[in-house]
Amino acid sequence: MAKVIIVGCGIAGPVLALLLKQKGFDPVVYERGPRAPDAGLSLMLQSNGLKVLDLIPGLVDRLPGRAIEQTRLFSILPSDLRLLAQSESVTEKGKVSKMGVNRPKLLALLSDVLEEHGIPVHFDTAVIDVELSLADDVVVHLSNGTIDSAPLVIGCDGLHSAVRKSLFGEQKPVFTGLTQTGGVTTNAFPGIPPTMHNFYGDNLHVIAYPISDSGDYSWAITERGPEAKETWRAMDQEAQNAFKTGPFSSLPLGVGQLLEKAQKITKYGLYDRPALSSWHQGRVLLIGDAAHPTSPHLGQGANQAFEDVSLLSNLLDASDLSLATLSSAFSSFEAERMTRTAELVNAAREAGELRVVAGEEAARQRNEKISASRREWGGIPAA
Ligand SMILES: Cc1cc2nc3c(=O)[nH]c(=O)nc-3n(C[C@H](O)[C@H](O)[C@H](O)COP(=O)(O)OP(=O)(O)OC[C@H]3O[C@@H](n4cnc5c(N)ncnc54)[C@H](O)[C@@H]3O)c2cc1C
Ligand SMILES: *[C@@H]1O[C@H](CO)[C@@H](O)[C@H](O)[C@H]1NC(C)=O
Repeated sequence: MAKVIIVGCGIAGPVLALLLKQKGFDPVVYERGPRAPDAGLSLMLQSNGLKVLDLIPGLVDRLPGRAIEQTRLFSILPSDLRLLAQSESVTEKGKVSKMGVNRPKLLALLSDVLEEHGIPVHFDTAVIDVELSLADDVVVHLSNGTIDSAPLVIGCDGLHSAVRKSLFGEQKPVFTGLTQTGGVTTNAFPGIPPTMHNFYGDNLHVIAYPISDSGDYSWAITERGPEAKETWRAMDQEAQNAFKTGPFSSLPLGVGQLLEKAQKITKYGLYDRPALSSWHQGRVLLIGDAAHPTSPHLGQGANQAFEDVSLLSNLLDASDLSLATLSSAFSSFEAERMTRTAELVNAAREAGELRVVAGEEAARQRNEKISASRREWGGIPAA
């Protein structure tokens, strides 16, 4: 049997397990957290990521989210209050091109689908070390003191990847200087089609998009500020109430109202890492955030993880797990993915900087740039 150990049952891990199972592998997944974590808010799936999820029969129809029909960019500078640009989402042959999803519900769905496909997932079990040997099997050490082994191990264990640490030593994620405070608001923006909103202010950007058929919107305010760890745990109720009535509650164009009914208000720092020159050693490979974490301003974190998953499952062959064949598959993977992901990490950083431009005059100039560059978007002139 072509056993593969997948470390992490977040976004990349379960989808990789499903695609490798389709290709005749025998995946086993280890996840540090519980089966249905409540942590985290939402993800934005774009056409590249949705195309990968479509490789799993029936999955896209079950996604806990909402197709997005239009994007609107606004200025919320008090002296420059206006719509900067607007576009319709492009749909290819009736397929959704953008969808906001509820992350905890997506994880619950993926766990169900793994079970339906008979793929074992060990929750509450962290991988604490990976023993690199060039012999036939890699040994992974688990948090309960036991070990497991397989000829192939894929690290899908996210920003603080333990597999990455075993391969390349400890390197701390890089705080980008930006934080987000996000939450979920029910019945936000009633009466309009499901819309991705971007509000540009002074050292301030707000994104809000729908994540359910019942009108739940996920939103996040980006600011430059002191480091805040990304524990993905909501603030306590007192802090949430203070935030709801704080300075953001008076923001115009419906942003203030988003806070009134908000739940799960969560603050987190935004991190990335410098590009590595290799993502593998021996029979072990990193993908997703473990390999190339990014700040979220292009909405590509999860989608790039899915691109990784799709390419990797195409490159691997369950009938040949020799070290030479794996090395060559990993090298092809890196050749195709490293430049693209590094470019996106850098572009996301730049997009983030644009979002937190500070000072009235600089922010007005930034708005002008956005409205000029987006004017042709979807052929709809900006106001
Ligand atoms: C709890 C949580 C909540 C998040 N919420 C959001 C959000 O609201 N918005 C957003 O944009 N992004 C969020 N993210 C990040 C986002 O999911 C990723 O940036 C992106 O989807 C890439 O997916 P990934 O599978 O590479 O990494 P992740 O989605 O981070 O998945 C990694 C998984 O590996 C597990 N893991 C970590 N270490 C170990 C270990 N040693 N052994 C076993 N398992 C391990 C983690 O528990 C996690 O389930 C969140 C991440 C986490 C972990
Ligand atoms: C350790 O964890 C693994 C995976 O969850 C499980 O299969 C095994 O029985 C556990 N062993 C002990 C001794 O708890």
